[in-house]
Amino acid sequence: MDFNFTSMEQDVIDMLEDFCINEVKPLAAELDEQERFPVETLEKLSEMGMMGMYIPEEYGGAGLSYNTYTAANEIINKYCASTGCMVEVHGSLVTWPLLTYGNEAQKQKYLPKMASGELLGAFGLTEPGAGSDSSGQKTTAVDKGDYYLLNGTKQFITNGYYAGLYLVFAMTDKEQGNKGISCFLVEKGWEGFSFGTKEKKMGIHGTSTYELVFEDVKVPKENLLGKEGDGFKIAMTTLDGGRISIAAQGVGIAQGALNELIPVIKARKQFGRTIASFQNTQFKVAEMQTDIDAARLLVYRASQMKQDHKRCVKEAAMAKYYATKVANDVTRMCLQLAGGIGYTREYPFERMMRDAKITEIYEGTNEIQRIIIAGELGIR
Ligand code: CAA
Repeated sequence: MDFNFTSMEQDVIDMLEDFCINEVKPLAAELDEQERFPVETLEKLSEMGMMGMYIPEEYGGAGLSYNTYTAANEIINKYCASTGCMVEVHGSLVTWPLLTYGNEAQKQKYLPKMASGELLGAFGLTEPGAGSDSSGQKTTAVDKGDYYLLNGTKQFITNGYYAGLYLVFAMTDKEQGNKGISCFLVEKGWEGFSFGTKEKKMGIHGTSTYELVFEDVKVPKENLLGKEGDGFKIAMTTLDGGRISIAAQGVGIAQGALNELIPVIKARKQFGRTIASFQNTQFKVAEMQTDIDAARLLVYRASQMKQDHKRCVKEAAMAKYYATKVANDVTRMCLQLAGGIGYTREYPFERMMRDAKITEIYEGTNEIQRIIIAGELGIR
């Protein structure tokens, strides 16, 4: 498929693919086994300019297109979904809202450090009682004149421990419902900001998923992102982009699993024939590649709209819903076709299947995506 990348963009994509084959893929099983965050990969991706791919050059970024960033999400996730998740949260959930809603001082202060990888981003929306229902924020930020006093707990925060900059959503006016939510830029190390539980997860073991605890944290007034009450809109529009990246992650995981399967079914023999020679296998492989390609088209449709600054609520939700379903179907089928060896940790299929599951849950469950799609079709 040709998505009209310029030769310079294609060079970046090819360079990233080489890097992933040489540096990301060899670490994937180890990160999973040891539940270890890929600090060394973060450093290398930062040196390559990959943490600021679409940040404009004036803020220290690479100034590449949004579609190139989407391609990068797909590529990294072919080899390691934990590494992909780290990059995606930083790029989609923190960089984008800062670029879009930040004032000049905030952009000057934070974007160059995000582009260089000195500051990794995390997105603090979810709370114990506010997962799918993101309006139900219990964290509060009280205006104290020079600063806001932040109190509350955020749950399941990706990049949690290793981030340096956190987008934190909190109620500034409880009476206003979702129009009383505001968004703040919070730095690691501020007094009263600590870490709670480290989550033990089914998959994406290489991600750092933590609870964030805020006890009387003084957030300077200048760290309000947008205006008071803009928080819900910031969260929702940010998640539109995040969902395109998670969809790209789904495509990447699925393509990665299928690519791993092909040599296995060509080499392994049962009943005196290769597994690939059975028509059942051929049909399954054909179906999987067709589903992956269909998902990829949905991803790039949404990504192109985002690149063109068009509203893409429905298209992002469709891409996320479909591509992550494909990721789960394909990884499960790849494991099945690999048979007993697929169930072992000698091969990547069981890890990919575990990693794929989260894509149907985070950044809005696929039930939420269908609610959004139905809403966009006017039947909610
Ligand atoms: N763009 C712009 N505006 C939007 C919008 C969007 N995508 N979605 C909603 N809005 C606006 C609506 O137009 C509406 O505006 P008005 O009041 O002015 O009419 C307002 O926001 C409220 O919208 P809803 O009535 O639809 O709000 P709701 O409370 O019913 O919630 C929801 C809608 C879709 C269920 C939303 O809460 C949601 O997306 N929930 C899922 C949350 C989620 O994705 N969490 C992910 C956490 S982050 C994460 O997972 C990161 C990680 O670890 C990797």
